[in-house]
Amino acid sequence: MKLSNEPLITEEALRERIGALAEEISRDYANRKPVLLGVLKGAFHFVSDLARAMRCPVEIEFIRAASYAGTESTGQVRVELPISISLRGRDVILVEDILDTGRTASAIRAHLQSQGTASIALCTLLDKPSRRVVPVTAAYTGFSIDDHFVVGYGLDYNERYRELAAVYILQPEA
Ligand code: XMP
Ligand code: MG
Repeated sequence: MKLSNEPLITEEALRERIGALAEEISRDYANRKPVLLGVLKGAFHFVSDLARAMRCPVEIEFIRAASYAGTESTGQVRVELPISISLRGRDVILVEDILDTGRTASAIRAHLQSQGTASIALCTLLDKPSRRVVPVTAAYTGFSIDDHFVVGYGLDYNERYRELAAVYILQPEA
């Protein structure tokens, strides 16, 4: 497998879109203090850039959800929520790298609801709507993309490429 020569989404496009998302979220959550709950590891750049562009105070936490080996979903999702605050009564913005089948987001949402959250909104950097198996829609979406396997800006292929500043398509070698 190799990277596309050109990014699918450039650094500049990421910066611009994330700035606009932060504006929108800041307006929607004015006078509240939402918890930005990032899903590790893929969302770590996104949470960082989103948080710095926000205009309302936020708290930042991370959880972990495992469902993937290589590029194929196993359909099983394990949620680990070892965070230091209580989510009871909190407005949570779940920050995901990518929405694919929807299994991960839906499992995490159920898990959060059981913690007594006041509200949960999903904010995903990327969405592959054509891949959806479980009906999930994001309140905030960075980019809707076709069914490519993408890496970079937090997204990995077997733990590689997370450090890249832009999003690339991973293609089979010719
Ligand atoms: P589901 O299917 O549960 O998947 O919505 C969400 C998780 O699957 C991983 N995923 C990808 N990771 N490039 C990646 O690096 C991709 O194109 C891709 N599609 C899905 C990712 O971990 C995400 O949180
Ligand atoms: Mg992954």
